Amino acid sequence: MTKEQLKLLFEKMSIEEKIGQLFQTYSNINEKTSVITGPTGKAELTEEEIKLTGSMLNIRGAKNIISLQKENIEKHPHGIPMLFMMDIINGYETIFPIPLAQGCTFDTELAEKSASIAAREAAAAGIHITFSPMVDLVRDARWGRVMESTGEDSYLTGLFGEAMVRGYQGKDNDVSQKGKIGACFKHFAAYGASEGGRDYDNVEISERTLREDYLPAYKSAVDAGSLMAMSSFNTFDRIPVTANKKLLRRVLREEMGFGGVLISDYSAVEELVMHGAAHDLKEAALLAINAGVDIDMMSVSYIRSLKSLAETGKVGIKLINEAVMRVLELKNKLGLFENPYKDANEEDEKQLFLCREHRETAYEQAVKSFVLLKNENILPLNNENTTVYIGPYSNNKEIFGSWSFPQNIQSMVTIKEGVENLDINNAVFLQGCEILSSGTILKNGSIINYKENENENNIEIAVNAAKFADKVVLCLGEHREQSGEAASRAVLTLPRTQLELFEKIYAVNKNIVTLVFTGRPLELEEIADKSKALMIVWMPGTESGNAIADVLYGNKNPEGRLTMSFPRKAAQLPLYYNHFNTGRPNRNGNLSFYSTGYNDCLSSALYPFGYGLSYSKFSYSKITLENAELTANNEIKASVTVTNTGKMTGVETVQLYIQDAVGSAVRPVKMLKGYKKIGLQPGESKDVTFIINETMLRFYDVNMDFKSEAGKFFIYIGADSSTDNAVGFELM
Ligand code: BGC
Repeated sequence: MTKEQLKLLFEKMSIEEKIGQLFQTYSNINEKTSVITGPTGKAELTEEEIKLTGSMLNIRGAKNIISLQKENIEKHPHGIPMLFMMDIINGYETIFPIPLAQGCTFDTELAEKSASIAAREAAAAGIHITFSPMVDLVRDARWGRVMESTGEDSYLTGLFGEAMVRGYQGKDNDVSQKGKIGACFKHFAAYGASEGGRDYDNVEISERTLREDYLPAYKSAVDAGSLMAMSSFNTFDRIPVTANKKLLRRVLREEMGFGGVLISDYSAVEELVMHGAAHDLKEAALLAINAGVDIDMMSVSYIRSLKSLAETGKVGIKLINEAVMRVLELKNKLGLFENPYKDANEEDEKQLFLCREHRETAYEQAVKSFVLLKNENILPLNNENTTVYIGPYSNNKEIFGSWSFPQNIQSMVTIKEGVENLDINNAVFLQGCEILSSGTILKNGSIINYKENENENNIEIAVNAAKFADKVVLCLGEHREQSGEAASRAVLTLPRTQLELFEKIYAVNKNIVTLVFTGRPLELEEIADKSKALMIVWMPGTESGNAIADVLYGNKNPEGRLTMSFPRKAAQLPLYYNHFNTGRPNRNGNLSFYSTGYNDCLSSALYPFGYGLSYSKFSYSKITLENAELTANNEIKASVTVTNTGKMTGVETVQLYIQDAVGSAVRPVKMLKGYKKIGLQPGESKDVTFIINETMLRFYDVNMDFKSEAGKFFIYIGADSSTDNAVGFELM
């Protein structure tokens, strides 16, 4: 449609029709085919409301979407098509590793590719918009949603956010193209900073912290052209974000230049009442529309009150019109007025879902996301030794994380299947124990329930097998429902029954390789001490078993690097590498007396940000600088030589950190400013150079001006954030 045609259509719409465009619901008609991601069914919708609905969320499958769209267009007075949106977080039917794992690849091109595949499959299934990427900065592993983020560094999170937006929307953001869908970055703003890591909880951070640490990743998504944004559930500055005009209108729209559609989070508008920010649904609608929320997701506040608010002059009709126009423009960008079904096609679904190319990318991304944390000459495995795989994940298909909804769970490749695909004949697979202890309550309210004696029996069978094996691979981890939304945890150890299994195996065989499936950093100190090798495999998705087997047997060399610090104890949280010195710094992370930290636990991470091993070994030269004086008009070239001193070809992630020694507002001990992934043959050396300029040193100074300050800086280049390979320079 041309702009003029769109305007004409707009002018013909009644106020009810307009408000309908600002309402999003799930489908009552097809409940079986909807994915439910929050509380449902509080308000019965009238026929009229259903008829005028502007968008629906989380409906699965081309067939259902085509039929819903058809029915709605026929009923709608102006035949306006609906938007179909869904949470496609790490794949639609071909499932990629969870976002936190994708972060650990440090490979944004690959993330773009997996997002574009997710878009292609989702588009074929009739979806127009995905509620992704989540670019919330995360620093507290108790929060279950850390799995949806790419980690604790805002620069890296921004790079991944941008890449995913490009992947979904295409390089030129022309979402009318086949296989493209719109992105909706979320959750604006600072949702990841909820107190105590408790989901939905209050956020108490300063405006400086918000601007310096949290906003940059959202800004990257805006600059990449994300067509939509989602506001967050939390409060900021004691005002729920859904009603926070300063954040949504001033910061997001005016300062950051976001011009797309802003949707509330699930039922967040009506939840303003529970927050104690509004007396009733009507006031909630008033606050949210004034604050700048265009679409009310899953609450009836807008459709039941905006009309009377407009008629009584409480809400200017201009605000409503602007919001409606943004929604119509989005539909137009997707080409829905010409083709309301866009790419929805059952035949294409069959062709695309789990096709070879898609699986290959899922495999590659999984391989690159595994983070090897320890290896005392036990990996790679070989086919000569007898290996017994023990644990609830040794042959388990629930390995896709809590934010993907594949229909074909059988398509997941388990570890057993992956190892068998390699024709390994010296391997045995035993469950050992259940994932969770009996009696554990899951977030969906179900209670894990099994007979303790059967579980004990399984443990005994596994212990007997372990006695006679050369090596044991323990396949342990969280339940997929233990991370994700509404999955905050105070205890971050492995479940009790798995710890019991571990101890019993350790008593009979010390050649243990431990694999951990997880959506978050866990407390693994004891497991790490007692294992000869430890590798985090996250929730790797469709190709899990093939990827794991190839890495275990050395067909692939691990190259993932942590993008979230692993604590020694959950009580250390929040924990992040780019913290501050304080007046009493604890530089080595030792036990602390009269310095920052704890008397009874080292304050350093067990495994820091950026850390990860390879089957190769890499050495770093000292840093050389081309000049040591930076001005606004020149740049500094900092180089190191990295050598593969190991026996296998491998990939190293060379990381650049900068520290600003003195600032009018204190500066973090280090900040990631760049990285390069390089491949090295055994014995090979490569020079890696980073360019540093003044803009990279800017921050919010004492007056909240974003600029750099002259003085001393340190450059660190090394294998992870704990590197002390440093050299100083001056900013003039
Ligand atoms: C989550 C969002 C999600 C939405 C729709 C909410 O509960 O916070 O991340 O996009 O549901 O499923």
